[in-house]
Amino acid sequence: MKILVTGANGQLGHETLLMLQNRGIDAVGIGRKELDFSQPEQAAEYIAAQRADWVINCAAYTQVDKAEDDAELAFRVNRDAAKAVAEGVQRYAGRLLHVSTDFIFDGKQSHPYKENDPARPLGVYGQSKWEGEQAVRDILPQAIILRTAWVYGVHGNNFVKTILRLATEREELGIIDEQVGSPSWTFDISRAMVALIEQQATGIYHFTNEGVASWYDFAQAIVEEARSLEFDLKIKRLKPIPTHAYPTPAARPAYSVLSKEKIRGILDYPVPHWRESLRTMLKELKETT
Ligand SMILES: NC(=O)c1ccc[n+]([C@@H]2O[C@H](COP(=O)([O-])OP(=O)(O)OC[C@H]3O[C@@H](n4cnc5c(N)ncnc54)[C@H](OP(=O)(O)O)[C@@H]3O)[C@@H](O)[C@H]2O)c1
Repeated sequence: MKILVTGANGQLGHETLLMLQNRGIDAVGIGRKELDFSQPEQAAEYIAAQRADWVINCAAYTQVDKAEDDAELAFRVNRDAAKAVAEGVQRYAGRLLHVSTDFIFDGKQSHPYKENDPARPLGVYGQSKWEGEQAVRDILPQAIILRTAWVYGVHGNNFVKTILRLATEREELGIIDEQVGSPSWTFDISRAMVALIEQQATGIYHFTNEGVASWYDFAQAIVEEARSLEFDLKIKRLKPIPTHAYPTPAARPAYSVLSKEKIRGILDYPVPHWRESLRTMLKELKETT
C-alpha cells in the first residue's frame, strides 16, 4: 500500500509520515517544495500522477489571525487546493483522508459537537476549511474527513512550545481561561487516522484527546509537567484572563469540544486523556532537544 502525505513538514503531516514509515508502509511526504497549494491548478495532475492508494491531506493555511487579512490565499489553499487534491484522487479511483478543524463550529454549543452538527465558522480560516470539506465531499463522497482541534506535537510550532519558551523568559503570564477544548497530540491523531484507513472508513469523524481544558488549564499543566521533567523554567505565576484581555484579529470558538462517540466505534483502544499525552510528548521533547 502506498500513502501520500501532504503538509509533510507541518506538525501533523510530519508525525503521520513518521508513523506510517515506522509501520513499514510505503509512505511519501509531500511538502510545499513538491506541490504548492497556492497554485491549485497543478495539484490534481500532480496527485493523480502519484497513484497512491491513499492520500492524507494535512497541508493547510493554518494561520488563523493572518487569514483575516489574507483571505484569498487561505481559500486557495484550504478550499481550492483541497478540491484539486480530491479531483486528482478521483481520476484514478484512490482514497482520500482530508484533515479539518473544530473552527468550522461557532463554539456557542455547551455539549460536544457531533459530526453532523451545523457548521457556523467565525472567521476566514474556519470558513475556508468548511468550504474545503464541502468541495472534497462533493467530489469524493467516500472520503474520510477527520476534524481535530488544539493540535500540538514535538515537530512544528504550537501552544506547548510557545508556553515553554515564554516560561523560560518570564515570571508571570496571563492565559485565557474562557475558551475550552481538548488539547490533542499529533501522535494520537495520526494513530486514529491510521485506524480509520485500516478500517476503510468513510465520512466525517471527530478526533481529539480525551478530557476538556481551558487554555489556562492547559498552560498550567504544561508548566507542572515540564517542571516535573526538570525543564529549566523561570515562570512563577500563571494568571487566568478573559478573552477580551487578549484581543486577536480572528474570533475563536469559546467551546471547542468535539464528540468522539462515532470514532470510538472504530478504535479498538481507549483514547488517551490529554494530560497523559502531554506528559509523554514533553518527555519526548526533552529527549530530543
Ligand atoms: N494546529 C491546530 O491547532 C489545528 C487544529 C485543528 C485542525 N487542524 C488541521 O490539522 C491539519 C494539520 O495542521 P498542523 O497543525 O499540522 O499545521 P501546520 O503545522 O501549520 O502544517 C500545515 C502544513 O501545510 C503546509 N502548507 C501551507 N501552505 C501551503 C502551500 N501553499 N503549499 C503547500 N503546503 C502548504 C505547510 O507548509 P510549510 O511547512 O512549508 O509552511 C505546513 O507543512 C490542517 O488541516 C489544520 O487545518 C489544526
